[in-house]
Parts: sequence; structure tokens; C-alpha cells
Amino acid sequence: RTADDQLIIDAGQKHFGPVTCSTCAMIYSASSLEDEGQHAQYHQRLLESIHYVGWKKERVVAEFWDGKILMICPEDPKYALRKAEEVRELVDAELGFQQTNLHSPSRTRTYLYVTNDKKIVGCLIAEPIKQAFRVLAELSTPDIRSMCALERHRAWRCSSEPQPAICGVSRIWVFALMRRKSIASRLVDTMRSSFIYGSRLTTDEIAFSDPTPDGKLFASNYCGV
Ligand code: ACO
Ligand code: ZN
Repeated sequence: RTADDQLIIDAGQKHFGPVTCSTCAMIYSASSLEDEGQHAQYHQRLLESIHYVGWKKERVVAEFWDGKILMICPEDPKYALRKAEEVRELVDAELGFQQTNLHSPSRTRTYLYVTNDKKIVGCLIAEPIKQAFRVLAELSTPDIRSMCALERHRAWRCSSEPQPAICGVSRIWVFALMRRKSIASRLVDTMRSSFIYGSRLTTDEIAFSDPTPDGKLFASNYCGV
């Protein structure tokens, strides 16, 4: 076989190297059967998890041009709790959380961002807390942005003095293809005005538990640190 033949054979294949699925955002190699199989499985599970069928009893706590935010409380019907659980499992898998225990399940509130085409693209899990440790930013945001993930972790230090706080964000997640459209900001805004009936929490009264690098960048921007 000559080099020319080889060239023709290669050019006939569909994809080389990694591709990103435009629906589920998974990066995989389309030329590997094993990868394609894993993708098909993940793709299917993601679509099932983020699909919102519509409930008879839903608690809409905010409405926007592109969707709405639902709040789910522990006393809600089983179908709502099951969906909240399913989304939490998806988020925990993406965040690499092993232990999925919540501090006080009976007082947890789950906020889901549902788009007009019935996809759950954002999730926030809030719990009551009594205190939090303020993160002390030692570097400017442009400095932090230019770092790798590990360096970012080290660039943050917490105060040793606990501050009183009311509401802890135990998870916040936005679907990969929908980020930087202020969905997380709208989830936190909505949590602040609905977590305690009749009052709006200040940014000092909320805290983000053990944030990821993305979570820190979002939280510091949101809280105006
Ligand atoms: N890098 C830099 N700045 C960011 C980032 C980022 N990755 N994400 C948010 N910001 C800042 C920006 O200033 C942004 O405003 P801009 O887009 O006008 O510049 C501002 O925060 C508001 O961002 P939103 O659009 O409201 O945030 P988004 O909807 O993209 O969601 C989130 C942010 C939830 C952190 C998302 O990136 C995500 O799901 N990441 C993966 C999961 C994760 O790590 N979650 C946090 C875990 S920590 C915890 O749960 C307590
Ligand atoms: Zn896919």
C-alpha cells in the first residue's frame, strides 16, 4: 500500500480526535467504539435526568423570559423529591462528590431552573446554617483567572473567626452549555428572596460550602468581593 492510498483511507473517516457533543457536552473520541458507547450511555442518562415532565403541583418562585425557577421542599410529593434527587446525583457525579449526605435534609430546599423547552439546566441546594467562615481573597481576580485549578485552591484563605450566617449553598450547578447566562445568579437571587418567607437575605447572610474553582469565581463576583 502506498502513502497515497493511506491518505485516501484516512480522509474517508468521519472524525479524528476528540469531539464535543452539542447536546450533552461530553468530550469523547468518535473513532473509538468504547468511547462512543460511554457517550451514548451518558447522553441518554443526562437527557433523562434533566427532562422535566411538568407537575400538577409545582412551586414557581421566579419567572424569566427563558424559563422559571421551581422550589422543592422536603414535604413535597414523591415525584418532585425523586426529580430533585436525580438532579443532585447528576451534579454530585460532575463535582466528584462521593458522600451525598446533606446536613439537615428536613430543612433543605432545592431550586431547579427549568427552561421553556422543559429542561432542567440549573440546580441550587440550600440549607439553614448558623455560621460561616469568610473567604479572604489575597489576590486580584485577574491574577486568579490566570492560574490553574490547583493554584486557585491555594490562593484562598479563610478567616478563623466564624461569622453568623443563615443560609448555606451546599450545591450550585448550571448545565455546561448554559453557563455565563446568569442562571446561577438568578438561582441565588431567588434563593435569597424565598428561603425565609417575607424577608430577603443579604449576601452576608449566605455562604457557599466548600466551593470549586468555578464556584469561587462565581461566588466572589456575585457577592462583590
Ligand atoms: N470563571 C470566571 N468567572 C465566572 C465563572 C467562571 N467559570 N463563572 C461565573 N463567573 C462570574 C462572572 O463574573 C459572571 O459574570 P459574566 O458572565 O457577566 O462575566 C458572574 O460570575 C455570574 O455568573 P453566572 O452566569 O450567573 O454563573 P453560571 O450560570 O455560569 O454558573 C457555576 C456558575 C454554577 C459555578 C457554573 O460554572 C457551574 O455549574 N460549574 C460547575 C459546577 C460547580 O463547580 N459548581 C460550584 C460548586 S461549589 C458549591 O456548590 C457550593
Ligand atoms: Zn451527547
